[in-house]
Amino acid sequence: MHIEDPKLLTELTELGTELRVRASLAELTNLGIGGITDLLRITKHESIPALIALLERHQILYRFLGGGSNLLVGDGELPWVVLQLTKPDPEIVLQGKLAHVDAAADLGRTVTFCAKHDLGGMEGLIGVPGTVGGALRMNAGAYGMQIGSYVREVKLYRAAERQIKILSGDQISFEYRHTSFAPDDMMLAVTLELPSKPYKEILQGIRICNEKRRSSQPLGQKSAGCIFKNPPGASAGRMIDELGLKGLGVGDARVSDRHANFFVNAGTASAKDMLSLIADVRGRVEKAYGVNLENEVVVWNA
Ligand code: EPU
Repeated sequence: MHIEDPKLLTELTELGTELRVRASLAELTNLGIGGITDLLRITKHESIPALIALLERHQILYRFLGGGSNLLVGDGELPWVVLQLTKPDPEIVLQGKLAHVDAAADLGRTVTFCAKHDLGGMEGLIGVPGTVGGALRMNAGAYGMQIGSYVREVKLYRAAERQIKILSGDQISFEYRHTSFAPDDMMLAVTLELPSKPYKEILQGIRICNEKRRSSQPLGQKSAGCIFKNPPGASAGRMIDELGLKGLGVGDARVSDRHANFFVNAGTASAKDMLSLIADVRGRVEKAYGVNLENEVVVWNA
């Protein structure tokens, strides 16, 4: 999707958006896969309702992009523009045990910043790539913890109501890799309430999680983390591994040799390659175990 109308371009600038013409989603996602479209970077939360109204008046479809770490985007010319928040300065403001964090803040940096101020609880999330907004929307978790446990308040743009809203933690349900947010809610900021812990103790936890992750996950390679959710009481990675599928590939899309629930882009994989590998593995697991694995990765396909 490419915006050419000069009047629309002026209005977009007036709303404080920065336009990147024909951005490559392959460069904006950790998988390194995805086609081309215009990217609109949003500098002011307050401008979002007017921005969305403007796009809708012009019948321009849009999608919200976080950090691009858990996302598989389709190939070629994409039919929607992509909206992304710019990072404010500062991204995090602390107030006692509360951390007010912008959705565009990097998750790992947030964990370490809070740790340095003796606020813990999120050690397991160290090494999870992406933004705080993305982690919130998916209820990211690892090593026995999940971000949802610490959410006190969320500021979001609710597309269905065309307005920015503040929800308290108890108005949101957080389950395993699932939240009650609507698919088109856009996360803007979150207030986390974190347990006090001495920095040294948090650091120890962070080191342990880092070590576990390094030894079991293909961190240096292009991936979107785990492709499938774990079915209740089982591990998707173990099932795929037991079927001997590590190394299985379609084009440059491969089942990782290190962790079978990570699919990596070993070169110039296309979305078509990755989707067909996902379908192949899902089919084999279904046949062998009678379990239909659900995607953990978010797919944007035209
Ligand atoms: N296993 C294998 N072979 C493999 C991979 C795993 O046998 O190729 C076995 C492991 O030995 C272990 C079990 O399966 O006994 C579980 O593996 P692991 O501890 O790696 O955890 P996981 O269930 O595969 C989950 C999350 C990860 C998170 C880790 C650590 C999901 C889908 N995955 O993985 O999250 O980092 O636990 O807590 O919930 C993600 O969300 O993208 C992600 C990577």
